[in-house]
Amino acid sequence: MDAVVKKAMSKPKRLIQISDCHLGALSSEALLGLNTDQSLHDVLALIVEKEAAFDYLVCTGDIASAGHDTCYRRFINIIHQYFSAPFAWLPGNHDSVPIMAALDIPNPPESRLIEQGNWLVILLDSVVPKKVHGNFAESELAFLSQVLTANPTKYIIVMLHHQPVLIGSAWIDQYIVRNADAFFAIIDQHPQVKMVAWGHVHQDFRSQRNEVALIATPSTCVQFKPQCDDFTVDTLMPGYRWYDLRDDGSFSTGIERVTGKEYVIDYKSAGY
Ligand SMILES: [Fe+2]
Repeated sequence: MDAVVKKAMSKPKRLIQISDCHLGALSSEALLGLNTDQSLHDVLALIVEKEAAFDYLVCTGDIASAGHDTCYRRFINIIHQYFSAPFAWLPGNHDSVPIMAALDIPNPPESRLIEQGNWLVILLDSVVPKKVHGNFAESELAFLSQVLTANPTKYIIVMLHHQPVLIGSAWIDQYIVRNADAFFAIIDQHPQVKMVAWGHVHQDFRSQRNEVALIATPSTCVQFKPQCDDFTVDTLMPGYRWYDLRDDGSFSTGIERVTGKEYVIDYKSAGY
């Protein structure tokens, strides 16, 4: 086979994950002193700078600080200001699932199954209405099981909002996916699952469970300091995660953070 053709065929699919944008009802609103519209713009500008071409963007929840219709419309408008690549989202505990589902807009986010070459990204809803913690409805676990059974030859990334494993910070680990055992019991039956990735914890995190990579992604706004049992704001900058998904099931991933900005953040806050 011609070397150029072979190289083109094996080009990895590049997936971008952003998370926890916490947009307010007004573009002027802030979280712990940080204007969340501004930091989202800064992260998206960074993606434009770093990622000459990517295939898909996913936002893993807490798009809004409180689920107002206007937040989602503004979020989509902002995304389209920067990219033409397709994007999808899933809800977080601060979001309104009914409002996200009912948005009547041109170019809405795409479906919860994202096919990229030999890979399939499955977006799950781990939200319990009016609660901060995560839990999968039976119907959601049935959906996961059915999609995995129907796709034995795809390499799989499962994305959700809440962490399904303890990350070492007691204050946020109380909001773990409560029925994570049932979730992993399904994952364990399907060796094609390569990664489980989430947001919610506003920090970088990597671990491994059997052959499955466990991955969290920083927020596009305020960061939480790892390994702190009480709420602690980190001085790290907003960022995003990239994934290169290769045809043979191997992958690379990393995070990039905004540089050269000075944000006014209430680092002493005891909560948010
Ligand atoms: Fe969250």
